[in-house]
Amino acid sequence: MLEINHVTKMFGGISALADVSFTVEDGSFVGLIGPNGSGKTTMFNVISGAFPPSQGRVFFDDQEISGMKPNAICHMGIARTFQIPQPIKSLTVAENVMLGAVFGVKQAVRRYDARRAWDEARQWLEFVGLKMDPDSLPGMMTAGDLRKLEMARALATRPKILLADEVLSGLNRDELKEASQILQKAREQLGMTIIWVEHIMHVLMRLVERVVVLNHGVLIADGEPAEVSKDEGVIEAYLGQN
Ligand SMILES: Nc1ncnc2c1ncn2[C@@H]1O[C@H](COP(=O)(O)OP(=O)(O)OP(=O)(O)O)[C@@H](O)[C@H]1O
Ligand SMILES: [Mg+2]
Repeated sequence: MLEINHVTKMFGGISALADVSFTVEDGSFVGLIGPNGSGKTTMFNVISGAFPPSQGRVFFDDQEISGMKPNAICHMGIARTFQIPQPIKSLTVAENVMLGAVFGVKQAVRRYDARRAWDEARQWLEFVGLKMDPDSLPGMMTAGDLRKLEMARALATRPKILLADEVLSGLNRDELKEASQILQKAREQLGMTIIWVEHIMHVLMRLVERVVVLNHGVLIADGEPAEVSKDEGVIEAYLGQN
């Protein structure tokens, strides 16, 4: 479904990604891990079109998407959450999710239709279990609720692939469980393909079926969690972290 083909991303003289290749099968749940600064979010930025790769190509359903704009890539069926939640603070909780429904794919609202977008938003707020007043502003939300909002907005685009960037970061134990259950539900009930960047390894390793590991922008391992967690290069990369 997704093919990362020799992707390099340079920032000045630094290669945040260096000749990275991997593929993601339809319906799979893949962890993308690596120490801080190893290029995980950069990979999501390249896939989602925030910026083009310096070299290499990205294919989605056999169509090249590298170089396409983020809105076009979202429309084709790739959604992302942001490592630092990015609610639009002047819009209500529901309106933030309505944006996803309006700009997404498939049965979601194509032309702006406030009532349908609202119905969609309510459905996704329920899906993620966000219990707060949908008409409130996101200014005072807890970390857990912000993550749920972030996921609801991405899911409201009805993506084929969800790129989830550290959805557990900053959460307490209960919130952590809830957030990881949302990903599992998206996978099991919606058949979504998920690539999940996460530092909370004991949760990630239990849920994903495959792990791709980056270190200094280089792919150093790609395999089943049990294999990868024993890989000497991977252990070294994490132990070498400051
Ligand atoms: N827009 C940018 N401009 C310049 N350098 C950048 C930019 N985005 C990322 N980098 C650099 O690229 C490298 C990879 O960063 P990236 O954010 O992809 O890492 P990461 O694996 O997501 O790390 P973390 O686990 O801390 O979120 C880092 O050295 C970072 O400073
Ligand atoms: Mg990151």
